[in-house]
Amino acid sequence: MHSFGYRLNVLLTQAVTLLALMCVIASLSDTLNVPSPSADVRVLHINWLHKQRNGNDEVSLTMNISADLRSTFTWNTKQVFVFLAAEYETEKNHLNQISLWDAIIPSKEQAKFSYHTINKYRFTDQGNNLRGQEYNLTLHWHVMPKTGKMFSDKVITTGYRLPETYV
Ligand SMILES: *[C@@H]1O[C@H](CO)[C@@H](O)[C@H](O)[C@H]1NC(C)=O
Ligand SMILES: *[C@@H]1O[C@H](CO)[C@@H](O)[C@H](O)[C@H]1NC(C)=O
Repeated sequence: MHSFGYRLNVLLTQAVTLLALMCVIASLSDTLNVPSPSADVRVLHINWLHKQRNGNDEVSLTMNISADLRSTFTWNTKQVFVFLAAEYETEKNHLNQISLWDAIIPSKEQAKFSYHTINKYRFTDQGNNLRGQEYNLTLHWHVMPKTGKMFSDKVITTGYRLPETYV
């Protein structure tokens, strides 16, 4: 006959084992989650493109920034930081990257969004390279977990071009 103490011990051991197993499954589910996000960025209007007094070009864009990042959210996601960058090449720099807009997505419910917005941060170039410039708009995101490592990814939308003349 097993004593009461022995049975309690078995029960506790089982409980602890179960708890440990649940933790493993939980963190595994986070690792196994393969996000399949989508993004669609459209330039609706070039509001203006001009040369600033200091000689640098500046452009103002109205954009429709849509994305569905819901699949990046797991039980372990604290928030997702998202930013849109204009990326282009000039003779001087292989990659010019200018942040145009950003947002913090606090929950899965808000991870499917569509923002109709002008660029929040200035799109300027160190020089007058923006006329006729080809560029990409890249939506970057950083997934900030409650525990563990941060990870990031992006969707590049290619094939944009600025007007040949100041407007
Ligand atoms: C922005 O894009 C989304 C998805 O393509 C679309 O559903 C929405 O109607 C667009 N909004 C504007 C103002 O163009
Ligand atoms: C846009 O992105 C594509 C794919 O990554 C790249 O090949 C191309 O050079 C980029 N264009 C510009 C203007 O940066």
